[in-house]
Amino acid sequence: MKKHAITIAGGGSTFTPGIILMLLEHLDTFPIHTIKLYDNDKERQDTVAGACEILLSERAPEITFVSTIDPKEAFSDIDFVMAHIRVGKYKMREQDEKIPLRHGVLGQETCGPGGIAYGMRSIGPVLELVDYMETYSPDAWMLNYSNPAAIVAEATRRLRPHSKVLNICDMPIGIEELMASILGLKSRKEMIVKYYGLNHFGWWYDIRDKEGNDLLPRLREHVAKYGYVTKDKSKQHADASWNDTFAKARDVQRIDPETLPNTYLKYYFFPDEVVAHSNPAYTRANEVMDGREKFVFSECQTIIDTGTARGTALHIDEHASYIVDLAKAIAYNTQERMLLIVENNGAIPNIDPEAMVEIPCLVGSTGPEPLTVGPIPPFQKGLMEQQVAVEKLVVEAWVTKSYQALWQAITLSRTVPSATVAKALLDDLIEANKAFWPELS
Ligand code: NAD
Ligand code: G6P
Ligand code: MN
Repeated sequence: MKKHAITIAGGGSTFTPGIILMLLEHLDTFPIHTIKLYDNDKERQDTVAGACEILLSERAPEITFVSTIDPKEAFSDIDFVMAHIRVGKYKMREQDEKIPLRHGVLGQETCGPGGIAYGMRSIGPVLELVDYMETYSPDAWMLNYSNPAAIVAEATRRLRPHSKVLNICDMPIGIEELMASILGLKSRKEMIVKYYGLNHFGWWYDIRDKEGNDLLPRLREHVAKYGYVTKDKSKQHADASWNDTFAKARDVQRIDPETLPNTYLKYYFFPDEVVAHSNPAYTRANEVMDGREKFVFSECQTIIDTGTARGTALHIDEHASYIVDLAKAIAYNTQERMLLIVENNGAIPNIDPEAMVEIPCLVGSTGPEPLTVGPIPPFQKGLMEQQVAVEKLVVEAWVTKSYQALWQAITLSRTVPSATVAKALLDDLIEANKAFWPELS
């Protein structure tokens, strides 16, 4: 089996240690000879890298480990880039969430005006990573889960149409793990799912076991009562606020009881409720800074101080094994069926062929082969077309540096009540994002 070299871009991410532990767990099926961390914040990455270096020297000393902020060193001689950068870091996520709330609009990492602001920050740096990879390792593939994935995917479609970049999201997988728990199955991989939508904006419409038995009725019945709340807790999405989101799926599902919804639809169907339940002084960014970020960085510091990772509380992100499944599909042509964010290109014949949709694909060494979904009902069609237009207008605004296009994008978001609110919000977002956005006119 060929051994691989991997660059983790956004090496200072809170998810890097969990992903490295997950890669170590899968070395028998996906062997690795080199892991490189790349970030543009040396100090932040140094803490994570210092800990990962010790951890690797104890658990897999045969793997070469590199930590660098030099693009040439980071992107040379590699097979895969796993990219999870957060442009502007948690300080800017906090702004994405708090600025809309000041205008009575929901503040969310990837949905609504917050997601649009984050998209305007992410496009340039993600394209930069793609360009580094193509310059220094032209045969490599980028598995990108930097958010907001929907807008980033539209940007790579439009601006890097021939690049080997695959955009992915863990939310459907996280929900499918809860579904497997609801059904009493050992693994989500015992289910064959049909799903369509946009990133953070989709529906399951058929779920079967390997024998073809229909599992949807049992799931519908459970979700109608409890949402996705079940006895087994998601490890990654464990905080109380996530539990609320899983519970809220009950109300989201009522709007279209035939299907099962992605949890993110709550932000589009119940924005008023979300605003009413938000604390404008303490949002999810604050929860994560006080929770996951503190935990990961203090564990890493302890490893560095004590010189050993034995007994560390840093835990494997088993949930993230879908990233290895994707890398294996490309490396070994496994033809695994996976949900990816790809160009529609007729898979859903009654919406824009140039929309980036999240649908099942067969993945092999030449990339994803999207499966046909067929025509979708008016409710989903209407919602998706509106949201696709929002995402396309954001990329248009970034490319042409257009204030008008971005005002239209924010106005068109279902989460924003009027063009007046959209404009006031936009002006505040411009001010807060000066260091990151192109100058709009
Ligand atoms: P984080 O802030 O802890 O880590 C992100 C890292 O990216 C930081 O170390 C930062 O310095 C670095 N970075 C920022 N701009 C960069 C640039 N231009 N070049 C190189 N490095 C840069 O964030 P996190 O919470 O660990 O999340 C990381 C990303 O993964 C976010 O975009 C998050 O939304 C995303 N994510 C996506 C999914 C998904 O389903 N697609 C799931 C989980 C996390
Ligand atoms: C899910 C989504 C990601 C998102 C994350 C936020 O995993 O798929 O796209 O970044 O949730 O989680 P957090 O714990 O940072 O709020
Ligand atoms: Mn996601």
